[in-house]
Amino acid sequence: MMPFGDPTARDLLDFYRDAGADALVGEEPVDRFAAVDAPVAPIAPREPAPDRVARAMPAPLADPQALAAPDEAAVSARAAAKSAGTLTELRAILETFEGCGLKATASRVVFGDGNPQARVMLVGEAPGRDEDIEGLPFVGRSGKLLDLMLAAIGLDRTSVYIANIVPWRPPGNRDPSPHESAICLPFILRQIELVDPDFLVCLGKPSMQTLLGIKEPITKARGRWVIFNTGRRDIRAIATFHPAFLLRSPLQKRFAWRDYLAVKKALDG
Ligand code: URA
Repeated sequence: MMPFGDPTARDLLDFYRDAGADALVGEEPVDRFAAVDAPVAPIAPREPAPDRVARAMPAPLADPQALAAPDEAAVSARAAAKSAGTLTELRAILETFEGCGLKATASRVVFGDGNPQARVMLVGEAPGRDEDIEGLPFVGRSGKLLDLMLAAIGLDRTSVYIANIVPWRPPGNRDPSPHESAICLPFILRQIELVDPDFLVCLGKPSMQTLLGIKEPITKARGRWVIFNTGRRDIRAIATFHPAFLLRSPLQKRFAWRDYLAVKKALDG
């Protein structure tokens, strides 16, 4: 089990072991950061996306029927999110927004954490129990693993910004319904636009499906860069496994490691 608190060298070693680095294979160190296999497309802010990189489209926006649905909550969510000029305003709007039923059972809004000026923004699915108590995303067990993986590529919450598709904890940690996600979508899209990161990392399938509109299994789609338009400009987005999934399936950490290396390479590039 992952210990709580700041990661120690031992925690990092455990993470590397789970990621497949479990044996001494040579006397000379090898620079694994150089061994990235994810294709990285050159980024061209405010210019057309390169043809060979797919353009992502948030799922409900790609579905004209969903947009045409006469849903009062979704309409008011779009208007409310659009009216926020800053993250502080967006948070205040969410605090008083009554259009999503999840608010009734959650203790508080779990808005975001980290550095709003960060070049990397990570988006998960929805807060769990620990996040609902603390009011911050990814502070439970999966958050500790996320912190370890970020630390492995030299990042922490001073250099990334973290949020969720849905800012309220669904009761009993159930999955948010498609309708709840659709109501919350304008808020997370506006949050991404206001943070304006250079790179977006979708943590898990629901985040990938909702923000990038990718329907493939995440086992296939992870690690592949796509172009995502923040509303201000084109940036690069990538999906990787959700840390909670990695806690259940530690062998998959070796693939997640490649994705985190791809992010590091993109940041360094
Ligand atoms: N899982 C998520 O998707 N988000 C959190 O904030 C915590 C767990």
